[in-house]
Amino acid sequence: MNMNLKLKIWRQNGANDEGKMVDYSISDVSPDMSFLEMLDVLNEQIISEGGEPVAFDHDCREGICGMCSLYINGEAHGPDRGITTCQLHMRKFKDGDTIYIEPFRAKAFPVIKDLVVDRSSFDRIQHAGGFISVNTSGNTQDANAIPISKHAADEAMDAATCIGCGACVATCKNSSAMLFVGAKVSQYALLPQGQVEAADRVKNMVAQMDLEGFGNCTNTGACEVECPKGISLDNIARMNREFLKANI
Ligand code: SF4
Ligand code: FES
Repeated sequence: MNMNLKLKIWRQNGANDEGKMVDYSISDVSPDMSFLEMLDVLNEQIISEGGEPVAFDHDCREGICGMCSLYINGEAHGPDRGITTCQLHMRKFKDGDTIYIEPFRAKAFPVIKDLVVDRSSFDRIQHAGGFISVNTSGNTQDANAIPISKHAADEAMDAATCIGCGACVATCKNSSAMLFVGAKVSQYALLPQGQVEAADRVKNMVAQMDLEGFGNCTNTGACEVECPKGISLDNIARMNREFLKANI
């Protein structure tokens, strides 16, 4: 059955605007629509009435790019588990519901407009060490010639599924980025290719994380619950061990 819904959406015209919740009504919403399709329909409605459409981030709309970033009814990526906002469907709501839609909130993610936040702090953390240097002189060792245990390969692959969406930061009461940075450190810490720069990587990435104004981890675990890719807290523990090792 199609639904009529009330939406309370955060509107903010730039970082210096105070911002406020604005009420909208939308009718005849199909339960098969994705959440972002519902917002597309709302924006068409707003434009036809001469208003300014709601700005929100999106790109792949299939859960792989990490661009979509809404806080829906008080949860990053909404009420479902293990999915991004673009994978959320309107069947999770019922006729007559009021839905609160806000941007991801953190000091290190300033609002650009409405529901769009600036997550370039994540890019700068990646630039500080989230890479490996490879000899491309023609004498490069074939990756398949380096034996890696199945367990290490699986764990590295699990860490590498982090899409950098920022839900962990938005969910954490301290706005900590440690689940994200833990995943990015772990994906190399577990592989031989990552060993050469391991100490510099973890030190530089942690230093950049602190510089960007993210908070510290206090082991609440909310980030793991809301992470759309199931990144485990074990990655934070591994990053802490790598950091200790690098500083001894
Ligand atoms: S750890 Fe999870 S919630 Fe955090 S950025 Fe990566 S995918 Fe998103
Ligand atoms: S739009 Fe790419 S993950 Fe949602």
